Amino acid sequence: MTEPATLTTNPLRAGMRMQRTPAPCTVVIFGATGDLTHRKLIPALYHLQRERLLPPGFSVVGFARRDWSDDHFRQSLLESAHRYSRSGLDTELWSGFAAGCFYVRAPFDDPAGYAALAARLDQLDVERGTGGNRLFYLATPPESYGEIVRQLGAAGLNRSPNGGWTRIIVEKPFGADLASARALDTTIHRVFDEPQVYRIDHYLGKETVQNILVFRFANGIFEPLWNRRYVDHVQITVAESVGVEGRGGYYERAGALRDMVQNHLLQLLALTAMEPPVGYRADAVRDEKVKVLRAIRPLTTADVAHATVRGQYGPGAVGGAVAPGYREEPGVAPGSAIETFVALRLYIESWRWAGVPFFLRTGKRMPKRASEIAIQFKMAPLMLFEHGPLSGIEPNVLAIKIQPDEGISLRFDSKVPGQSNTIRPVMMDFRYNDSFGVESPEAYERLLLDAMLGDSTLFTRSDEVEAMWTLLDPVIAGWAASAPPPFPNYGAGSWGPASADALIASIGAKWRRL
Ligand code: BG6
Repeated sequence: MTEPATLTTNPLRAGMRMQRTPAPCTVVIFGATGDLTHRKLIPALYHLQRERLLPPGFSVVGFARRDWSDDHFRQSLLESAHRYSRSGLDTELWSGFAAGCFYVRAPFDDPAGYAALAARLDQLDVERGTGGNRLFYLATPPESYGEIVRQLGAAGLNRSPNGGWTRIIVEKPFGADLASARALDTTIHRVFDEPQVYRIDHYLGKETVQNILVFRFANGIFEPLWNRRYVDHVQITVAESVGVEGRGGYYERAGALRDMVQNHLLQLLALTAMEPPVGYRADAVRDEKVKVLRAIRPLTTADVAHATVRGQYGPGAVGGAVAPGYREEPGVAPGSAIETFVALRLYIESWRWAGVPFFLRTGKRMPKRASEIAIQFKMAPLMLFEHGPLSGIEPNVLAIKIQPDEGISLRFDSKVPGQSNTIRPVMMDFRYNDSFGVESPEAYERLLLDAMLGDSTLFTRSDEVEAMWTLLDPVIAGWAASAPPPFPNYGAGSWGPASADALIASIGAKWRRL
C-alpha cells in the first residue's frame, strides 16, 4: 500500500497568512485631491478600519497642490466615502478615521513642502504613536513620479527614524515602454531599495485572481492536465462596457495595449501559465512569474502583422444606451489612431506550453463587462458516438471567471435523457457568492494592507515589469511604423473588429460568447 501523501503544514511553505494587523503607521498619499484617492484609496482604508484591520494610531497624510486645510480634506474624503464605500458609512467609525487624516499643501517640486511633510510625520510619530513607519503612495499622474521620488530622497524621507520602515507604492502606468520603465526604475532605485518598492497592479488584489494560484496548487486534480498534452488553447478576456470615462487625455497617450495588456492581462497569463513556486512567498512567486513572462516567444515584425489586432470603437449602443465613438469622447483627437481594443496570439516556449496558443483580448465599449480565463481542452482522442447525432459535442472548457460573476465553471458533454444518443454540453458551476455568502473585498483593500504588512507577493517586481515591456515594445514599434486599420473598426456594443475573430480562427477556434 502506498503512503497517503501528506499536506505540508509549514506555514511558510503553504503560505498560510494568518490575519495580522500592521504596525502603527502613516500612509502618505501624493495626489490626495485626485480621483484614485477618492474613488479607491480612502474607501479601501475606511473598510480596513471597519474590519478592524488597521493598527491603532493609523494616520493618513494627503499631499497635493490645492490649497486645502485638514478640515477641507476630511470633508472631501467624507463625501467620496459616502459615494464609493461598498457598504454604508458608520458615522462614529468615520469620525475616528477622519481624525487621523491630515493635509500638506505643496507643489510636488517644492522642497519646503517635503520639509513640512517630514515635520508632520515626526509630529504624528509622537502624537499618534506611528513609530516612524511610512507608506508613500504615488497616486499622481505618472509625470510627477520622478520628481516626488527625488524630493523624498533629498528630504531624507526614504529612510525612517526610530527603526521604523519606509515603503513606496507606485501606481500604474509604470513607464510607457521598456526604456522609460527602466529610467523610472533607475530614478526610484537611487532613492529606494527594491524591497521598499511596491508596484501596484490592482488585478493582483482581486479575490478571483488570487484564487488562480489556490485553484491550481491546492488541488491535485487539475495540475496534471495543465499542459500541452491536454490543453488546446487558452483565452484570456478582459471586456469592459465602459468607454474612456472622461480620461481621454490619458488614454490618447496610453491605448489598450499599455493600459490593460502590459499589466493586467499579462499578469493573468503569468498566473495561469507559471510553474509551481517553491513556496507562497513574494520572491518565489515572482521568480516563477518572471520566468514564464520571459519564456513568451518574442514577437517579430511578421508576428506583429499577423498575431496582433488593434481596434477602435465607433458610435453604437451599449446596454440599450447610445454610446459615442472613441473619437467623439472629450480629450480625444478627431482622427485619433489610438486603439481601444487589442487581441494577441502568444506562444510560451517551455516544455509545459510549447505549441499551445494563448489568446488575449481586451476592449472598451464591449457589450458587457466580463473577464475570464478559459482553458480549452483537446477533444477526446476517439469518438465513440459516431453513429449518434454528433453536432452537440463541444470541447471541455474550464473557465475562471474574474468579474463580475466570480466563480469557476467546467463545461463537459452529457447525454440528453431519452432514447437517442443526443449529446449536449452542460456546466458544473462554482460561484463565490453561493459558496461563501460574503462579498469579496476590493482589490485595493488587500493591496494596501499587504504593503503595510510588508508582503510584496501581490506586487510586481522590476524584472517582471521589464519582461512585460520587452514583449510589447515590438508591438508598439510595429504599430507605430504601419498605418492603423481603418478606424473605427468596431461599433460600441460589439465584441470587437472582425480581424479579432479571424485571429482566433487561425487555429480553427472561436472566441467564447460571454
Ligand atoms: C485600469 C485601467 O487599470 O483598469 C482602466 O486604467 C480600466 O482603463 C480598469 O477601466 C479596469 O479595472 P477593473 O477593476 O474595473 O476591471
